[in-house]
Order: sequence, then C-alpha cells, then structure tokens
Amino acid sequence: MKANHQSRPIISRCFLCSLFLSLFLFFLVSVQYHRQPETLLAFTSTISTITTKTNTTSPDIRIRPGYATYDAYIQRQLNKTLNPKLRKIWTTRDWNRKINVFSNFFSELKGKGFISNSTKALCVGARVGQEVEALRRIGVTDSVGIDLVPYPPLVIRGDFHKQPFGDQVFDFEFSNVFDHALYPEKFVGEIERTLKPGGVCVLHVALSRRADKFSANDLYNIKGLTSLFRSSELVHTRKVDGFGLDTEVVFRKKKRS
Ligand SMILES: C[S@@+](CC[C@H](N)C(=O)[O-])C[C@H]1O[C@@H](n2cnc3c(N)ncnc32)[C@H](O)[C@@H]1O
Repeated sequence: MKANHQSRPIISRCFLCSLFLSLFLFFLVSVQYHRQPETLLAFTSTISTITTKTNTTSPDIRIRPGYATYDAYIQRQLNKTLNPKLRKIWTTRDWNRKINVFSNFFSELKGKGFISNSTKALCVGARVGQEVEALRRIGVTDSVGIDLVPYPPLVIRGDFHKQPFGDQVFDFEFSNVFDHALYPEKFVGEIERTLKPGGVCVLHVALSRRADKFSANDLYNIKGLTSLFRSSELVHTRKVDGFGLDTEVVFRKKKRS
C-alpha cells in the first residue's frame, strides 16, 4: 500500500511531462506549418533561383496545396510541357487553330489601341509560342515569349517568377498562365518591373470555373488581381472564350509609381 501511494506522484509527474512535451511538439509543428510559404522560397530550381520573400495573402487567390518544394512545382509543370506527344500535337494539328484564335484577340487589342506595330511585346508562359506567332502575324513583329522550356526562335527559356530581362523593357505583356504561378505576387511584380511606364499588361484568367490540374493557384475575384498590380491601373475587363479562360483583364502601368 505504501509503495502504491509513493508511485502516484511519479505517475502524475510522468503525465505532466508527456503533456508538456506534446504541447511543445504541437507548438513547433504549427510554427513550421505557418512558415511554410516562406521556407518554400529557400528552395532553388534548376532553372531559376527565387529569392523573394513575398507571398499572396489575398482571400481572392488561393495557392493550391501539394507543392512541397519549388523544384516539385517546376517538375510538375515540366512533366506536361516536355511531353513529346503533346509537343507534337501543339506544333502540328493545333498550331494554326490556336494562332488564329490568338490573332483575333490581339487584333481586337490593336483596335482598342493597346498595341501597335511598333510595340515591343512579351508573352509570359508561351509554351511553343503560338501567341507570339499570332502577334508577329498581325504586325507586332518585335515579340517574344518566355517559358520553362524554350522553343526558338519564338520562345526563350525563362521562369516568370524571375523574368530574364532588365527593368522597363516591354510596351506590352500578355499571359494566359496566371493560374500557373506559385507566387502570384512575384508573377505580377515581374511583369510590372519589366514593363515600361505606360506599358500594358493583358491577362486571360479563369474566374467562373477552376483552371486545369497543373494550376498552382485559383482566382476567385478580379480584386485579387488588382491588389497585386501595385503600380498599374485596371483599364479594361471583358468576358472572353480563351482556351478555358473566361475573362480578359487589362492593366496599364502608371507613368509614375
Ligand atoms: C496552360 S500552358 C499555356 C501555354 C500557352 N500560353 C498557350 O496558351 O499555348 C502553361 C505554360 O506555362 C508554363 N509555365 C509554368 N510555370 C512556369 C514558370 N514558372 N515560368 C515560366 N513558364 C511557366 C508551362 O511550361 C506551360 O507551357
């Protein structure tokens, strides 16, 4: 009986110790979880080094979970872009069909005065470059694209989170891959950095339906985009039918930020 009385305080001490340890471990895990977006940025991809510490906090844009590292994100994008069968289709059967659709979009933008034949244009996430070819065909000859995989001469290699250009180079940037940005703030920040003052950015985005399984974020409201364009004004929006994307959004970079 006596021995039993003495063991009780030992048992309670053990219980308190394990409770304290569990709480401490729980605290460590939650701190790590909340820091994850920043720690992800410490990873480098073979294509580019992302050094920013920015991350999206807008309720109108949600980053999809499941990308443990930046390399994992890049690898997932490359899995589709490098697929030989798909590349064959994009550059043969789909080639002209897509160029024609892009040409109509760009002709309309030309009609509204957002581009002209003297515009220096960049297409962000251009894959095999049909959008670049479309711009060239309607007379915007100084056009180029960037993508993780180059497709010369239309598309050069570049990560849109860290564009391979200096500041204020382009008059016009087009992209239909905003949903592929793991860091939407960086995606937009790079567009604003490389656009000249007064330059125009046109994005095709999906608002009413979710984009494809290779997307890294989901946009729920245009406000999510406008809050990212810190040095630009929203000048135009309209509904479009663009390869699963339903909204065209046009921003103009302010002459003075
Ligand atoms: C849906 S496809 C769109 C291709 C093209 N704009 C079109 O409409 O034909 C998305 C493209 O974004 C590219 N991409 C994804 N993440 C990227 C990144 N971080 N930097 C540059 N390109 C990226 C992919 O390689 C892929 O070619």
